[in-house]
Amino acid sequence: MEAAAVAPPALLPCRSVDPSPAQFAARRGPEPWPRGRALAARRHAGAALRCEPSRRPEARPVARAAATEDAGTRRKRLAVFVSGAGSNFRAIHDAALGGAVRGDVAALVTDKPAMPEHDVDFVLLAGYLKLIPAELVREYPRSILNIHPSLLPAFGGKGYYGSKVHKAVIASGARYSGPTVHFVDEHYDTGKTLAQRVVPVLADDTPEVLAARVLHEEHQVYVEAVAALCEDRIVWREDGVPLIKSRTNPNEYT
Ligand code: GRF
Repeated sequence: MEAAAVAPPALLPCRSVDPSPAQFAARRGPEPWPRGRALAARRHAGAALRCEPSRRPEARPVARAAATEDAGTRRKRLAVFVSGAGSNFRAIHDAALGGAVRGDVAALVTDKPAMPEHDVDFVLLAGYLKLIPAELVREYPRSILNIHPSLLPAFGGKGYYGSKVHKAVIASGARYSGPTVHFVDEHYDTGKTLAQRVVPVLADDTPEVLAARVLHEEHQVYVEAVAALCEDRIVWREDGVPLIKSRTNPNEYT
């Protein structure tokens, strides 16, 4: 992700909204965040809204059993920040509706219009191009994720966004690329890596073809990372590196 911070972010109307604050409040989890956190999120983000279930038939019954059988963790509330086409948002939202992610998208924020008030547990940047204000990073420690379309720390930071990333990867002669899911700090693309996937860079790749190959993996790896986040399966190693605990074998980490 990259691009200079410009206007304050605001709200993207999703396809349908639950407009009633009372209904929204009724859906809140039993452990709302401290008011300070919620207020800070409100100050910095845009608006929030609830989206209707996807009409894509394949999106519905994904791994419902795996997520719902999970012992005792309440469903988490997620805010997703987007600037682009929103395909990563859609993948996460569909997974939440289908059951693969034990959480709900409570807020969808873009760099366009408005913003209500909703406590969230985690913030997910999904193609969001602006730098997240340091105050918001501090208010959400270890709770903001981003996805970047290269194997960080390569091809990340200021200037590396969209097709520029893939052009640079191809021009470098790198034989492999792939998405990185990482926690967000005050800088572009420098937070701790949580998950990665590798794809080949082929001899005749164009940036568009490579981007599509990487994007396909983005949708898988981001959903898996968010699922782990919502099930409290992230473990922080002593040196500050986050690891994902396997759902099936708690002694196994990725
Ligand atoms: C993705 O390639 C993501 O890695 C990057 O921006 C793009 C967003 O795509 N940060 P979409 O808007 O989710 O389709």
